[in-house]
Amino acid sequence: MNKLIIGNLKMNLLSALERDRYFNNFKQEAAGKRIKNAKIVICPPAVHLEAFQELKRKNVFLGAQNIFWERSGSFTGEVSPGMVKNLGADFVILGHSERRRYFCENNQEINLKIGAALKNGLKPILCVGENEEQKENGILAIVEQLDGCLRKISRVKIEDIIICYEPVWAISSNNPDHLPTTNEIMSARLLIKKFLVEKYGVKIAEKTNIIYGGSVDAKNVGEVCLDPGMDGVLVGKESLTPYEFIKIAKIIDQN
Ligand code: PGA
Repeated sequence: MNKLIIGNLKMNLLSALERDRYFNNFKQEAAGKRIKNAKIVICPPAVHLEAFQELKRKNVFLGAQNIFWERSGSFTGEVSPGMVKNLGADFVILGHSERRRYFCENNQEINLKIGAALKNGLKPILCVGENEEQKENGILAIVEQLDGCLRKISRVKIEDIIICYEPVWAISSNNPDHLPTTNEIMSARLLIKKFLVEKYGVKIAEKTNIIYGGSVDAKNVGEVCLDPGMDGVLVGKESLTPYEFIKIAKIIDQN
């Protein structure tokens, strides 16, 4: 199974100039560094998706950071699954804690978005994870999110979903003490696997990718991905620097 390195560029690259500088750096860093066993997915802001097609390769894909669940119509400010698909996206990040926090997205809405993504041939990257207050009861928070977000998603479609364990308290922390241990990450992965086994059976659960996100960098990626069952990482801040992002991809590719 190919490992995944997903870059979430968030609300950055403010101009065509900044975007083009990113392209140049990315191409320069990627040149000659063959990634054989991994897939890179870059998720730029929706306004840059079309231009980012320039970076697509056999193992470099694009993803959106959000979509609405409706196909088209009077939904001012929203972007539909078909739109991002037509602009070259094959993946979409859904349920990110920043969307839950700043836009009050709930599991029911995320569930609708997952359904719409799958219907349009987009692979959802579903983020789940406990926040600081839920830390004591992390298991409950994760299971509740999985349960709500995956409601009525059919067995056939589930293996197209990538589940990202992102403890909210570890996102953008830049503090090594604010990272979960390898054991904690493994426990969360096993919890997600168990949920999938119980709901969809062993065969499907085996095929579903589970990745880790939250302050991943080139120094800690070996540790957060030490668990051989971990299928990759979601990288925020460090994906904005192609040098660091490709370094992370190379480390995962060689593991
Ligand atoms: P970070 O972001 O790597 O900057 O912590 C990860 C994310 O929010 O997806």
